[in-house]
Amino acid sequence: MGIRIQEAAKRLAEGDLVAFPTETVYGLGADAENPSAVAKIYQAKGRPQNHPVIVHLAPNADLSYWVSEVPVEAKKLIEHFWPGPLTLILPRATHIPDAVSGGQSSVGVRCPSHPVAQALLTAFSALKPNGQGGVAAPSANKFGQVSPTSASHVVSEFPAEIQAGVLSVLEGDDSDIGIESTIVDLSRLKEGIGAVLLRPGHITRAQLAEVLGYEPASPDKAAPRVSGSLKAHYAPRTPLQMVREEECKQLVSHIPVGEKWVLMAFKEIVSQVTSQVSTVEAGTLEIYAVSSDPVAYAREIYGLLRRLDEQGYQRICVQALPQDANWEALNDRLQRAAAAFV
Ligand code: TXA
Ligand code: MG
Repeated sequence: MGIRIQEAAKRLAEGDLVAFPTETVYGLGADAENPSAVAKIYQAKGRPQNHPVIVHLAPNADLSYWVSEVPVEAKKLIEHFWPGPLTLILPRATHIPDAVSGGQSSVGVRCPSHPVAQALLTAFSALKPNGQGGVAAPSANKFGQVSPTSASHVVSEFPAEIQAGVLSVLEGDDSDIGIESTIVDLSRLKEGIGAVLLRPGHITRAQLAEVLGYEPASPDKAAPRVSGSLKAHYAPRTPLQMVREEECKQLVSHIPVGEKWVLMAFKEIVSQVTSQVSTVEAGTLEIYAVSSDPVAYAREIYGLLRRLDEQGYQRICVQALPQDANWEALNDRLQRAAAAFV
């Protein structure tokens, strides 16, 4: 099932889909300049047509081929954070197909740091007459579901497409960061609107502020659409709920008789959580200890949600995260996951 770089690049050039590893999550890639290839992404994901996709570029790509302007803010951020988990939304060059930008006048661009992603992007670019190849890729999951952080997640998400030969999977290690890139909108600078943080990620608001010289704003109503910003997103199939620390300790007494729930609790409180009372009075609670370091938590979260999803729990409870700036991205993802069930 797994294929090699050259073969993967060739399939992209032929208009087929290739899933590939990045440092954030696995992407579901297609030739960004081939609208019918991009249409296959939307079809496989079940994603609405007006949601734009990120164009992934090789480290030596000519950015001015893809965007109509590279403002000084973009240059600074690129210098600090590329290649890496940062997507920039910039005014798009006129030849970029509507299909990529969901009809908007901007385009999202990102240069991943993952060596397999870079090798694929470089090999694909070499197949283009002008040497410029961009791979449009959303996370390789069905719309609204948890993003994949391993090749096996992708395989389990798209069995039909792989079977039909429309999708090949370029395998790599598990994604090191584990949550999607930070997205910064720089497409409205001309309107006097500075950098906007559309999606928090591994690169934090504070790190962006340090490079920009000011803190990026949060999105207003006119900000470009980000499908991950829909209230309910990133959700497992099992209902997920956030639980405050003090409620975790006696959570078991709220579980209906006959039900089995799981609680993801920080290591520090695990010994204080009651996991069983009389089975006549309540159901049972299994406890899963999670890291209190946000980087380690992010690396593990999506894979863990997928595993818990397969274990037949009636509910996944997640101990509420610190309201600390370093936890902004994880609060964002888990609150959206929980919102799918209210
Ligand atoms: O880490 C990541 O960003 C991963 C890997 C594969 O690179 N990709 C990813 O793609 O998370 P996706 O499609 O699942 O999320 C990208 C988000 C979407 O919510 C999309 O709406 C937004 O980026 N986006 C892409 N282009 C945009 C544009 N021109 N304007 C506004 N939002 C855009
Ligand atoms: Mg996604």
